[in-house]
Amino acid sequence: MAAGACSQEMVDMVEQPEVDFRALDDLILERFAGDKENLIMILQAINKEYNYLPRPALNYVSTRLDVPLSQIYGIATFYSMFSLVPRGRNIITICLGTACHVRGGERIKERLESNLGIAAGATTQDMRFTLETVRCIGCCSLGPVVTVNDKVYARTDSEKTVKVLEEYE
Ligand code: FES
Repeated sequence: MAAGACSQEMVDMVEQPEVDFRALDDLILERFAGDKENLIMILQAINKEYNYLPRPALNYVSTRLDVPLSQIYGIATFYSMFSLVPRGRNIITICLGTACHVRGGERIKERLESNLGIAAGATTQDMRFTLETVRCIGCCSLGPVVTVNDKVYARTDSEKTVKVLEEYE
């Protein structure tokens, strides 16, 4: 499942966090001049702050920018960089594009699913990791490739990846 893909039922089940509305005002009105043309950048900033898009924040953006909530959810579900459910402190992304797949990407995925006790697309209960897959990140000659947050691990394998995860709290 892509990061941004989830049903309305899943969103409804999520316990919503405290949202700092004053900080949201600063973001919307000062940093992005209250301009609805900047909606995607505003959502990116919120996603970065909370690691996902909390519903109260989206409601507030909708009101402040006078943009229908349905339009905001449309954007939030279209782009895989957005998530409507909480994600872990560390995002592991395993490339399963053809080049990485033939070099063992699938084996890495199975090993991490087993080690973390979650399926791809899910988050560990302690919120330490979210495990995701992707269909190519554009460095196929370096496959198999795994990223953790912004860091790329090239020509990796199951053992190396499991070891690398120890560095992330
Ligand atoms: S297939 Fe993995 S980076 Fe392109």
